[in-house]
Amino acid sequence: MSPFLLTRTLPEDATDAALRADVREGLTGSPKTLPPKWFYDAHGSELFEEITALPEYYPTRAEREILLARAGEIAAASGARTLVELGSGSSEKTRHLLDALTGLHTYVPVDVSESALTLAGRALAADRPGLDVHALIADFTAPLTLPATPGPRLVAFLGGTVGNLLPAERAGFLAAVRGLLAPGDALLLGTDLVKDEEVLVRAYDDAAGVTAAFNRNVLSVVNRELGADFDPAAFGHVAVWDAGHEWIEMRLRSLTAQTVKIPALELAVDFAAGEELRTEVSAKFRKEGVRHELSVAGLELTHWWTDEEARFALSLSVAR
Ligand code: SAH
Ligand code: AVI
Repeated sequence: MSPFLLTRTLPEDATDAALRADVREGLTGSPKTLPPKWFYDAHGSELFEEITALPEYYPTRAEREILLARAGEIAAASGARTLVELGSGSSEKTRHLLDALTGLHTYVPVDVSESALTLAGRALAADRPGLDVHALIADFTAPLTLPATPGPRLVAFLGGTVGNLLPAERAGFLAAVRGLLAPGDALLLGTDLVKDEEVLVRAYDDAAGVTAAFNRNVLSVVNRELGADFDPAAFGHVAVWDAGHEWIEMRLRSLTAQTVKIPALELAVDFAAGEELRTEVSAKFRKEGVRHELSVAGLELTHWWTDEEARFALSLSVAR
């Protein structure tokens, strides 16, 4: 079995402090918001994996189709010896890339979900003798220090997770990714594409209610970590297409007028009946927009691949 190392880049109390700050800021602002990274405790990570298998949720299947078709080209173009994957989750699709990257020395999965990293990292280390797996529990929106491993480096950010960042966060994030790369190193970026509103809304409001459970899970995280008394059943799941921003917005709508207590913050939060709390944006992209955002960050788009139905794109860009 090859080595599997798991490093926590931030002490647990820093994560706790970040949750407290996000909840205080997000629930005392108007409109109320919570950042999507708090969905992913062990249960939230499991629910996300269930989402990826739903008939309505096409992005995972579409991206897998592209990876299966293009992994060889990606490997040849990048020549990567180190693969860093941000928001790696189960690392399931990444296996196609790992199969193609024959000269790979180290795989560095990075995620806030310790449970997802541990499951994925252990399985990979067992399946791939000879590959070093060095997992990092880290927030990819904060400055990252990567282990010293051989180049060239390929950073992968799959699943369309870049769309969960707001535009200003995205610009800062892409600039920071560029900072992790030497000239000639590459970024492999998955972006969901703008399409028919009905298809998009169904992908975020599935018939089986798995996405609704994923959305409400953030309330359970706040209950457990901060002693809050949210009743998840008192909030409805909402998914709407914002045509101006070209993003899906997930919200939780308070079904009644209610007050939620958050003892760890000594805070009581009033919700009016029908008031909505934004829990996620999931931006959808067009090729020229992606090219432009990459270019502003110092990355040059060299390849653009889509699935047969042009629902999702994988792009490769190179650090200038
Ligand atoms: N890449 C996988 C998983 C996507 S789900 C796929 O394509 O299927 C999004 C993943 O990003 C989750 O595993 C979640 O825990 C992680 N994540 C979300 N916000 C994060 C953040 N700020 N820092 C690090 N990981 C984050
Ligand atoms: C992780 N991310 C790309 C998913 C998305 O589609 O925005 C998260 C998700 N939210 C609802 N369903 C899936």
